[in-house]
Amino acid sequence: MSKILVLYYSFEGSTEKIAQSIAQSINADIIKITPQKDLSSKGFSKYLWGGKQVLTGEKPPILPNNLAQTVVNYDLIFVGSPIWAGTFAPAIKTLLEDGSIVNKKIAYFCTHKGGAQNALKKAQQAIETNNIFVSAIDLANVASSFDACSKKAVQWATKIGMSPMQF
Ligand SMILES: Cc1cc2nc3c(=O)[nH]c(=O)nc-3n(C[C@H](O)[C@H](O)[C@H](O)COP(=O)(O)O)c2cc1C
Repeated sequence: MSKILVLYYSFEGSTEKIAQSIAQSINADIIKITPQKDLSSKGFSKYLWGGKQVLTGEKPPILPNNLAQTVVNYDLIFVGSPIWAGTFAPAIKTLLEDGSIVNKKIAYFCTHKGGAQNALKKAQQAIETNNIFVSAIDLANVASSFDACSKKAVQWATKIGMSPMQF
């Protein structure tokens, strides 16, 4: 049986809840990625701080730091991120671009508040740098529509879990 891992970053909990739904429904292992120093603000300044990190292309060091050894054991990896300034969060940039994951099948999910126009394309390009892109999905307004978003994510993940290369 193939081994599946869910890796995600979540600042305010929405991506985390979706990651947990996915992992539970397809019996995958799950690991949270965190920057060694995360944003500290929950107020409006989080947008300025987080947005600036994206715009300056920051790739913060992330935890856990033994990821490369961990991921080799998996056949398929789901990667989840909130959308920040129209793309994946800096911690996920590090994850996808630092070479910790290579030649793996990756399916990508993101959560956002309605402004994710080119986000899936950008994620696909980043995944294809070192890995094999499988599929991507975006989920809007998870905090206010959790049930619908979770259902959509689980249906998507279940199909991929059954036959990852048909996507
Ligand atoms: C720094 C920052 C930037 C954001 N930028 C966007 C954006 O460009 N488009 C959008 O739709 N939502 C944006 N959001 C909202 C988040 O993507 C959304 O609330 C997401 O579901 C949060 O996931 P989390 O709870 O897992 O952190 C931003 C949030 C933060 C904190």
